[in-house]
Amino acid sequence: MDGTDKEINAAEYGAAPPGYDFLVIGHEGFGQVEAVGPNVTEVKPGDYVVATVRRPGNSIYDLIGTNDMTTDDTYYERGINLRHGYLTEHYVDDVEFIVKVPKGLKHVGVLLEPTTVVEKGIHQAYEIQRRLKVWRPRKAAVMGAGTIGLLATMVLRLKGLDVTTFARTTKPYLNADLIEELGARYISTKETSILDGAKQYGPFDLVFEGTGNSGVVFDSMQALGKNGVLVLASVTGGDKMIQIPADRINLEFVLGNKVMVGTVNANREYFEMGVGDMAQAEAEYPGWLSKLLTDPVKGLENYSELFKKLTSPNGAIKVFCEVA
Ligand code: BGC
Ligand code: ZN
Repeated sequence: MDGTDKEINAAEYGAAPPGYDFLVIGHEGFGQVEAVGPNVTEVKPGDYVVATVRRPGNSIYDLIGTNDMTTDDTYYERGINLRHGYLTEHYVDDVEFIVKVPKGLKHVGVLLEPTTVVEKGIHQAYEIQRRLKVWRPRKAAVMGAGTIGLLATMVLRLKGLDVTTFARTTKPYLNADLIEELGARYISTKETSILDGAKQYGPFDLVFEGTGNSGVVFDSMQALGKNGVLVLASVTGGDKMIQIPADRINLEFVLGNKVMVGTVNANREYFEMGVGDMAQAEAEYPGWLSKLLTDPVKGLENYSELFKKLTSPNGAIKVFCEVA
């Protein structure tokens, strides 16, 4: 479960499928195959799997398997928008949307979907930077130290970048410890502003914004170095208004050839990348991923616990339900 589930439950985001007055939530799943149709060869009963979230619409991007890039006004996401999700004992789906997870990752399989959010964003950044005939990113910043911020820090560290992760909470803070275990730097913005942090440890070649707070985007734009790329991954259902130094930000973007890109999750390519990076993380930082699984809830009947944990500021990183 994540912030999206919180927003859905508060009726700020998402929609029920046509003909239903409820939505089965759950888009971060992990499960085991029980049965397959006669023509399915990709997975077999007993395999561990995660299903993707987006389902195809009608645009040209949907037709080539990149549903995450749809230009349709309506998008379909299991557990979020117009399609039921996975917080249930069983679900059925086309094997096209089912991604196999190796046995050795089954204890952390539920982290695959949030990992794909990060995989897509970072992959897009590298694709975009092919515009520079040579791009050797050395310094990255991550905004936010929730699940997405932690996983973004992990993926960037696996690429060998010097990573500075910013979030509000001051130390001692479990998430800050987890960041430092990856060999990254943690900065509390209560002590050091993003702009001061950027002066000290930047300028950043890549910034990944995953705080859920749109205001941080404009600080991120200023923390970004020349020729840098800023990836925006916060889904903000609100209507916040803020003042910003527009001329300065614009000027620095123009004179510095900077890029900013939005990223919404994710097609199966990124699920496959996520499996690869999670396996590498288990090899490089053994046991680290498991530490994100802070708040299990046993049994679907205890669903109200899920929301209690999700909304209470008790330091939970990942709240999840053990359905079976
Ligand atoms: C999910 C994504 C989804 C996005 C927008 C996120 O919470 O993880 O799969 O595309 O919300 O609805
Ligand atoms: Zn999500």
